[in-house]
Amino acid sequence: MLDLDPDALLTTTRAVRKRLDFDRPVARELIQECLEIAFQAPNGGNMNNWRWIVVDDPALVGRVAEIYNAGLDDYVALLDAGDGYPGAVVPRADLISTSVDHLRENFHRLPAVLVPVFAGRMEQANSFYQASSWGSIIQSVWSFMLALRARGLGSAWTTGHLWREAELGELLEIPEHFTQVGLFPVAYTLGTDFKPAYRKDSGEVIGWNGFS
Ligand SMILES: Cc1cc2nc3c(=O)[nH]c(=O)nc-3n(C[C@H](O)[C@H](O)[C@H](O)COP(=O)(O)O)c2cc1C
Repeated sequence: MLDLDPDALLTTTRAVRKRLDFDRPVARELIQECLEIAFQAPNGGNMNNWRWIVVDDPALVGRVAEIYNAGLDDYVALLDAGDGYPGAVVPRADLISTSVDHLRENFHRLPAVLVPVFAGRMEQANSFYQASSWGSIIQSVWSFMLALRARGLGSAWTTGHLWREAELGELLEIPEHFTQVGLFPVAYTLGTDFKPAYRKDSGEVIGWNGFS
């Protein structure tokens, strides 16, 4: 276990892409341990309406990598055809994009990939069902990422493949009424020293007693 107090753990768990160790195997027991910690996060009605698929067969990781890359290609094509990335331009955006590229190019080399899924589809759901469903799994996924970090491993939240969600569903035989959360690389990190990242100033985003 790394020597990190809770605040250090929470503020230095980064999206790791350039510093993933693609060559070092990760034991299944370690992934299971991190998942069991993750399962302690809150979930609506304690229904545990989830499944956690770990892909560690190299050939299957290769197929998942193809779908991830195809999904990102779909997204990039859509952006190229429109007005570009919808979000704000942030400091160090150039580094984010080289980091995204690095993961894309090496995704097939990952020792393992986690695919969390939950029962239910959100296309027709109202805000209550959407918030309750996503809120019942996202916290566990983040706990999983924190548990990895505490043990010298890393991940990155990725949703790029969801442009091809059905393709991955078919590959992993996920029933159609399940929703995929994303793809989460699992690997040791190259070094364990990570720092807090840029975020908007708190004064800009916190409202006391109202929106503004
Ligand atoms: C919902 C969500 C989707 C994301 N999708 C991707 C993705 O498809 N590919 C990728 O490389 N990173 C993805 N990221 C990682 C973000 O780019 C990263 O979190 C952001 O640059 C901030 O970096 P930090 O988490 O280290 O502070 C995603 C993050 C979130 C929260």
